[in-house]
Amino acid sequence: MEKTYDFGLVGLGVMGRNFILNVADNGFSAFGNDLDIEKVNALKEEGGDTSKVDASTDTATFVKALSSPRKIMLLVPAGKIVDAVIEGLLPLLDKDDIIIDGGNSFFTDTDRREAYLSEKGIHFFGSGVSGGAKGARLGPSIMPGGNREAYQHVKPIFEAVSAKYNGEPCVAYLGPKSAGNYVKMVHNGIEYGLMQLTSEIYDLLKKGGNYSNSQLHQTYTKWNSGRLQSFLVEITSEIFTQKDEIAEGDLVDKILDKAKQKGTGKWTSQNAMDLGIPVPSIDIAVSMREISALKEERIQADALYSRPSVELMDQQELEKLTEEALYFSFIITYAQGLHQLADASREYGYNLDIAEIAKIWRAGCIIRAGLLADITEAFNEDKKLPNLLLSPSFITKVQETVNSARTLVAFAAKNGIPAPGLSNSLTYFDAYTSSRLPLNLIQAQRDHFGSHTYERIDKEGIFHTEWES
Ligand code: 6PG
Repeated sequence: MEKTYDFGLVGLGVMGRNFILNVADNGFSAFGNDLDIEKVNALKEEGGDTSKVDASTDTATFVKALSSPRKIMLLVPAGKIVDAVIEGLLPLLDKDDIIIDGGNSFFTDTDRREAYLSEKGIHFFGSGVSGGAKGARLGPSIMPGGNREAYQHVKPIFEAVSAKYNGEPCVAYLGPKSAGNYVKMVHNGIEYGLMQLTSEIYDLLKKGGNYSNSQLHQTYTKWNSGRLQSFLVEITSEIFTQKDEIAEGDLVDKILDKAKQKGTGKWTSQNAMDLGIPVPSIDIAVSMREISALKEERIQADALYSRPSVELMDQQELEKLTEEALYFSFIITYAQGLHQLADASREYGYNLDIAEIAKIWRAGCIIRAGLLADITEAFNEDKKLPNLLLSPSFITKVQETVNSARTLVAFAAKNGIPAPGLSNSLTYFDAYTSSRLPLNLIQAQRDHFGSHTYERIDKEGIFHTEWES
């Protein structure tokens, strides 16, 4: 076979098939590869004209079909499979060919693969792709990191297939090595945070205001046309109208309350701890998935303790509070994730442009939201902004909504409704905006029991006191 196809893709699951069809829709020819003949045939059938889309189970046929430098994207599960696919391709590749890992690989794996492949003259990109199966087909947000020069070969294809926001592509070269995977990891951490918050607000409306599913649908729909406009609020509104096909009633009420996870949120939290950057709205979202998994213990504990009976709140009042508190805590969650990115950029030498990242998240990805246009502007105004909360353009937005978060968190606590995402967001805000915290006492304790020393507010230097016992 002649080397003619512009783009190659390994892994023809739903994401891979959709991505390749998207590439073809945008005028590039694409060749797929999968060990599963059924997946190969499914793509061929859907692709129609084989001069635009073709596929094979044979790796050599696949590699030979691609034009140079070869641009091969992997959409396979993260982990050992990525290494196995790379090993299968390697002997067939030429210098300067490009491999793009489009999965949620852990960023240190990407660094290892990049170093290994660059020794062999192959460019390796860790490139987050967000937007699920629909996004892959119609326009995802793409977060590539790797060699800047090699990216020029991939750029026209990625820009064509990505989602567009006001005509601007939701893809940009983000930085060297694992920059793309790292940004996607934090995207997912923020995703966990926003999902947790959306579910707490649902609980508060339901338990605190007796909202029916149809009222919940109406409320989230209304919010989606206001400042809370976002993909997650939009799909939440749709979820409340879904009827169950197996039994009477609404599907949402039949779904088991145990949330699964594949690890990207946890990695975000773990790495934030390593960096020393607080992301409590993300941490608690991971912990809540863990608590949710302890269903049997929760049932047991529920029977052992009583909780206050909920004093219902006026629906109008509750709706105002929840809208404002959700907006406030969304801002806080983005602020934490972006703070982590800014720090990781220094630590790992990514040289990230936070405004550019917010910009490519405005459409296509799971955390897309109207708010991201404002965030993009804030970081464009000040490229070195350490935290969104320090942006002059966010002060009013936060100031006007924080009191509703206070009232709602107090209401949740008083009535025994768990709202840890909201309260962590509020506490983070209160702590981050406190010029004096009680951690002077912790320093005193450390010095008292372990001579760990302390600094003073009125004098430079390191001090130790022989504390009177
Ligand atoms: C995306 C998503 C996606 C992720 C799912 C599931 O951006 O399209 O982040 O990459 O795999 O959201 O993640 P969990 O199984 O961990 O919830």
